[in-house]
Amino acid sequence: MDMGKKAKIIGTGSYLPENVMTNSDLEKLVDTSNEWIVSRTGIEERRIAKEGEYTSTMGVFASQAALADAGVLPSQIDFILVATLTPDYNFPSTACLIQHAIGAKQAAAVDIQAACTGYLYALSIAKAWVESGMYKNILVVAPDKLSSITNYKDRSTCVLFGDGASACIVSLEGKGLVIETVTLGADGEQALLLMMPGGGCRHPASAESVAMSQHTIHMAGNEVFKHAVRRMESASKECLASAGVDEKEIAWVVPHQANIRIIEAIAKRFEHLSPERVFKTVHKYGNTSASSVGIALDELLKTQKIHSNDKILLMAFGAGLTWGAAVLRYE
Ligand code: ACO
Repeated sequence: MDMGKKAKIIGTGSYLPENVMTNSDLEKLVDTSNEWIVSRTGIEERRIAKEGEYTSTMGVFASQAALADAGVLPSQIDFILVATLTPDYNFPSTACLIQHAIGAKQAAAVDIQAACTGYLYALSIAKAWVESGMYKNILVVAPDKLSSITNYKDRSTCVLFGDGASACIVSLEGKGLVIETVTLGADGEQALLLMMPGGGCRHPASAESVAMSQHTIHMAGNEVFKHAVRRMESASKECLASAGVDEKEIAWVVPHQANIRIIEAIAKRFEHLSPERVFKTVHKYGNTSASSVGIALDELLKTQKIHSNDKILLMAFGAGLTWGAAVLRYE
């Protein structure tokens, strides 16, 4: 065990289904318009998993990309941490399905659930476990198939969501992004603002629960919007302070991709954050929940020139309510 070393992300990967759902496709399903969706959310299209493509299958593709990027074999993974709110089954865990599919026979595996903040919660756990010496290589996977719990008759939610998966390998060894600090928070008092009421032990599946659309996302969008802006701003500022990093030093901000207006509102609350340093994928993928920050981070690393010592700020917010931020430093 080396107490001095910090955990790093040594490889990233992501996966988006091929099938594109445009705003004009949604115009055929609900009373909405491309103009409304673009002006209120910034979303132009999103990806939807095809028949037979599940949260685990998307997670496997993202995991294989992250393993290849890190140069790590499945046999070298000793823990698989999956953050998802749309598991293939309530049990067994999606982590076990991914463990089998990638052939990581040595790895223990578990799911965690922090909705859209799942990637950051998983990163924080992986960092602590790796730095304690408990595990060497942790595979973090954040896959979500939101189309499976979206009500395509509810225009206030169905325009927002898409499917996708992201993954990363967290380790002490190798080159990559040092995880300097992760800040997390939650407020269960607001739990009912954003939820899926059915399918758990309170309202198990029944003909009535199906008739009442209880197995889909229910959201008080306006309220969630305000919490998202406030919480991501404060988590980010707290995270920067505890990392001892000034906002002027941030090369890139990678926010949860829920709504362009949320992203712009947060950016305005920083004094020295130029909008072109805020990385966005929301226009083409919509809100892909837990996977969103990881997909954007993977795309940032693969498409932009990142320099030695560049600092990247991640931030996320989701049901729970939950939120978090992380400061990463490129070696
Ligand atoms: N097309 C046309 N009109 C619509 C649509 C639509 N798709 N959806 C809602 N409207 C209407 C409403 O009915 C309302 O009409 P009314 O004034 O006649 O009642 C009007 O548009 C305004 O509705 P609001 O809800 O006030 O619209 P708002 O500007 O707040 O945008 C939105 C709604 C996009 C949902 C926004 O509130 C939002 O992004 N919220 C946050 C979502 C989020 O970030 N979630 C994060 C986590 S997600 C997760 O954890 C799974």
